[in-house]
This record gives sequence, C-alpha cells and structure tokens, in this order.
Amino acid sequence: MTVDEQTSTPQHSFSDGGLKRLLIDGRLVDATSGRTFESLNPATGELLAHVSEGDATDIDLAVAAARRAFDDGRWSQMKPFDRQTILSRFADLVDERHDEIARLDTLDMGMPLTRTMGNRRRAVGMMRFYAGLTTALRGDTIENSIPGDYLTYTLKEPVGVVGAIIPWNNPHIAFIWKVGAALAAGCTVVLKPAEEASLTALLLGELLLEAGVPDGVVNVVPGVGEIAGAALASHLDVDKIAFTGSTSTGQAILRASAGNLKRVTLELGGKSPNIVFADADLDQAVPGAALAAFGNSGQVCSAGTRLFVERSIYEDFMHRVAEFAQGLNVGNGLSDGVQLGPVVSKTQLDRVVKYFDIGRDEGATVLVGGERLVAGELSKGYFVAPTIFTDVRDDMRVASEEIFGPVVSAIVFDDAEDLVRRANATSFGLGSGVWTQNVAKAHRFAKAIRAGSVWVNCYNLMDPAVPFGGYKMSGYGREGGLEQLDEFLETKAVWIKTS
Ligand code: NAI
Ligand code: MG
Repeated sequence: MTVDEQTSTPQHSFSDGGLKRLLIDGRLVDATSGRTFESLNPATGELLAHVSEGDATDIDLAVAAARRAFDDGRWSQMKPFDRQTILSRFADLVDERHDEIARLDTLDMGMPLTRTMGNRRRAVGMMRFYAGLTTALRGDTIENSIPGDYLTYTLKEPVGVVGAIIPWNNPHIAFIWKVGAALAAGCTVVLKPAEEASLTALLLGELLLEAGVPDGVVNVVPGVGEIAGAALASHLDVDKIAFTGSTSTGQAILRASAGNLKRVTLELGGKSPNIVFADADLDQAVPGAALAAFGNSGQVCSAGTRLFVERSIYEDFMHRVAEFAQGLNVGNGLSDGVQLGPVVSKTQLDRVVKYFDIGRDEGATVLVGGERLVAGELSKGYFVAPTIFTDVRDDMRVASEEIFGPVVSAIVFDDAEDLVRRANATSFGLGSGVWTQNVAKAHRFAKAIRAGSVWVNCYNLMDPAVPFGGYKMSGYGREGGLEQLDEFLETKAVWIKTS
C-alpha cells in the first residue's frame, strides 16, 4: 500500500487524536511492538495524536531500507539536475503547506504561531539553498610534486546512511536543516524526531515522497531517545550521526558511535554571553537583550543567557529590560498577540522552576518573574514568567548551566579587557552578542570571543548560507553554509599515472 492509499485525504490532519505511524521505506507502518506514545499540546495539556513508538527493531528496518536505497544508487546516482528538481519541488510544497506545518509545530511544542509562521522564509530558503547545492558538488584537481607524471584529483562522495536525531525546540526547521543537507549530498536518512514533537517530521516525510524522493531515501522513526535514538547512534550500518540536543546526550551519542567509528556532528547546548557596553544604542539593546534570552521561551541553544552589562548603565538598563520582560504577552501560541508560549513539557517546566530555587539559594536576586504562571487558562499548560536574575556572580549555577527556559542572568562588568576572560570562562561556545557603537571594539570582541557565532548589535540571526555551530562543548561541525555540505561528504583522492 502506498502512503496515499493509507490516508483518507491528502490533507489529513496530524492533530486529530488519531494514530501517526512510522515512515519506513516509503510506507506508513505501525511500530513492530505495536506500542504508541501520546503527543500533547503543552499550552493546554490536550491530546494531539498517538504516535507509533519505534524501538531498535524498527530502527533496524529503517536503516536497512536506507542502506538499500543508498547502495542501489536510486538517490546518490541520480543526476544532480533530477535531484535538484525533486528537492525544489519539496521546497515548493513546504512553501504551499507552511501554514499547516507551522500550526502543527505550535500545537505540538508551544511556540507562538507568529514565530512558527515567521519561519516560512527560513524553511523554504534553506530547502532552496540545499536544492541549489546538489548541482554544485565538486572536487579539486591538485598539482603534486611526485617525480614522473601523475594526475591527482579529489572526488566528493556522499558519506552514506545518515542518522539524524533532532530536538523539539524548532522541529520543522531542525528537520529541513539536517535532511536537506544530507539529501543535497546524496545521502539517505533515518530521522528520529524528539518524543515531545514528532508530528511535523512525519508530515515532512510524506511531503518528501510527494515531491518524488524515492522510497527508503528518508525514513522517519519517532521513539524514545534512550531506545530508538540510542539504537540509531550505535547502529553498525549507519555511516554518520547528525545530532542536535543536549551536551550530555551528545556525549552518549559519541560513545555509542565508537563501534563503527561513524562520523558524528554535534550541535549542542550553550550559555552564551551577550555583552552590552555603555556606548551601545540602548533603544535597540534593551529589546535585543530581552529577546536574545526570552525568544521561544528561552528554548534556543544559542540564547543569550549571560547578560554582561557595563556598570555605568547597569541599573537603568536592567530596569528597562525588566519593563520589557513584563510587557511580553505569555499565552497559548495560537492566540493573537502572544509573544511567548509555554515550555515544551512538564519535565522542562520542572527543570526551569528548579533553577528559580537554585538561583535564589545561591544569592541571586529575582528582578522579575521567577515563577510558573497559573492564572486562568494558563494553569492547564506549562507557562513560565520571563525571569531576570541580578546580583549574579560568574560562578553561580544560573550563570554557568543551560536552563533552557525564559531566564537571563545579568552580570555587571567594569573592565572591558577582563570581560573577554569572563565571557569565555564557560565550557560552551555557541552564540554571543556584543552591543556597542564603537566599530573597533566590536571587531576586537568578535575576534576574542570563543564561540561559533558573534552577533553585533543584533542577536540570533540565521541564514541558510551562513554556517552555524559550536566551539568547545557546544559541539562540532557546522550547519548551514557550504561548510555543512562537507559534513555529509567523503573526500576521495585519485592518483593516475599519466605516462
Ligand atoms: P536530549 O538531548 O535528551 O534530546 C534531543 C534528542 O536526542 C531527542 O530526539 C531525544 O529523543 C534524543 N536522545 C535522547 N537520549 C538519547 C540517546 N541516549 N541516544 C540517542 N538519542 C537520544 O534533550 P532533552 O532531554 O529533550 O532536553 C534536555 C535539555 O537538553 C534541555 O533542557 C536543554 O538544556 C538541552 N537541549 C538543547 C537543545 C539544543 O538545541 N541545543 C535542544 C533540546 C534540548
Ligand atoms: Mg533527554
């Protein structure tokens, strides 16, 4: 049976409470175990769907399908023009269906509709970028110094079967970010979405088939991280894992990958410094600093959660950020005017609330927020007030650990040179921000900060053509940009004696 035969209409709803099944080898199938899990709306606690729960057996089936699809060349040997045509068609489908995709992410993980819908340009743009890259793959011809006549050149070849493991904080973007690049390189994929938000991954998997991606090239297997994710990470027939998520899970994946030394790229957590100098344009820096930390309810790996503010403006600046934070409209992401949705799950709620206690116990002051929001309808969901800690010292846990909620730790500074040391005194290195109108200072800090991205007088901007990734324990490898493509390619050197 094909996907179309199994679904009543092409526009079937992914949030009707029904069963959403695994996508393996071009078919929608039940989990071998018959098990399912529930997908809930974090704004209301309502059931959205039952999702088939894949385990190691289903991962085996999906990897076998991806292996066959890779080895017989149905995708990797297809002419770049034809792969590009299919991926462009997929980009068009993402564009046409984006309202539905965005709404599904909002229901599934809580991000406000304005924000999920606002991702249209990024989602479509990324997919078009990758479609373009399919016809841009190339090796080099290299001069060598070997006595005699030898021609040397490189071939770029897809790395093989890719296991993609993605988180829940921006589901459809995370899917396209990984799958788009893997497909452009000619790889085949088994993707495991996060258990908190699997629905758009299944929808996008179907849209790939509709666009003409052959069966087995992309397989989507929802399931529990420690079971399905771990099975993928340790699978001996998977050539590469592309992972986004927590640093500790990244470490587990790296350990699990050792069996066949599969390639691994890791996009992990952060505790990114956002530095505001007294000479900044404060009218921009106030909302900039607030949204760097509170956007998507703080569930952003590169969130600017260590806010360093120069002493001469500190009091006034923090007062203004606090006012801005209190003006943010927190609620159900489907409602008009909502700027911050719930956090994704009860687990994340408990984690964030625990950090309110940790910060207070350490001696930090709660300037605003510091509590769960339970007024009226909010009591049904996992809502947290945007929270600012002041009187924070560099060594406090709220200044060094990733909280992944709408929480910012404000730290005062006097000495701009010592500031570099303090900003870099973290095991992470993902994002960073600098707010100043002094060009020389901006460049000096952009160079001195040990992080994969530096935003000057802006924060968290992303573009398909610009590489993104971590230093230190924020992971390795880059997503976006031409750099990402190389993460899915092997380089083969060819030597030919020509006389
Ligand atoms: P996680 O890192 O455990 O989950 C991310 C993905 O990895 C999910 O698909 C999950 O099912 C999978 N996974 C979990 N354990 C695995 C294993 N042993 N082997 C293979 N795959 C596995 O993150 P989680 O539990 O959702 O959130 C915990 C914390 O992680 C958050 O509070 C936040 O600090 C951080 N996080 C960071 C993200 C980022 O974008 N850097 C995204 C999500 C979470
Ligand atoms: Mg986890």
